[in-house]
Amino acid sequence: MSGDMQPIEKLMRTAPVIPVLVIDDIADARPIAQTLVANGLRVLEVVLRTEAALDIIREMRKVDGAIVGAGTITNPDNLDAALLAGAEFIVSPGLTEDLGKAVLSAKIPFLPGIASASDIMRGMDMGFRHFKFFPAEASGGIPSLKALSGPFGQCLFCPTGGINAKNAVDWLALKNVLCVGGSWLVPKGSPDLDLIGNTARTASTMNGHAE
Ligand code: 3PG
Repeated sequence: MSGDMQPIEKLMRTAPVIPVLVIDDIADARPIAQTLVANGLRVLEVVLRTEAALDIIREMRKVDGAIVGAGTITNPDNLDAALLAGAEFIVSPGLTEDLGKAVLSAKIPFLPGIASASDIMRGMDMGFRHFKFFPAEASGGIPSLKALSGPFGQCLFCPTGGINAKNAVDWLALKNVLCVGGSWLVPKGSPDLDLIGNTARTASTMNGHAE
């Protein structure tokens, strides 16, 4: 592992899977985070799609070993709210100039979403090289990301969107894929911690590029 590795790359190499967490009930935050961390998934993305999301980030930050980020960040206002809640990294389904500039000035690890060559080029113009490929399956799946890796061999990806326990390993086999993201680890509704733990343990040993 090189000494000057960017913090976002370090995060991407921490575990092969980043659970995408859509959680409604604040009481579920800590038990879910504890279960995921105890089973090898330390990097957690809480998406700002529920009213409780910012409080969920605050609660999960209290769990030893958890690295908690905010997802579905689409503008600088979302970013400010996530930073105030203590988010340690930021994920977006896309990239605008406003958001990119705000993230750069906040100096926080960032995974902007891309789905095309032009998206990647705009991201690279802003200095980014690590991207979320979203929506991964709907944007052409593995053949599409393989094709993009020709002209953009210097970029590294976290595919998300349509990834599940079955296809994650195939994505992780791509050399420019450091990790994948997905909501399959924590299904909606009242959490079944045993099931979440088992699913996380399996995901944490998937053959990725973690170091
Ligand atoms: C995301 O926010 O990254 C995606 O909605 C997660 O996609 P999935 O639900 O298909 O895993």
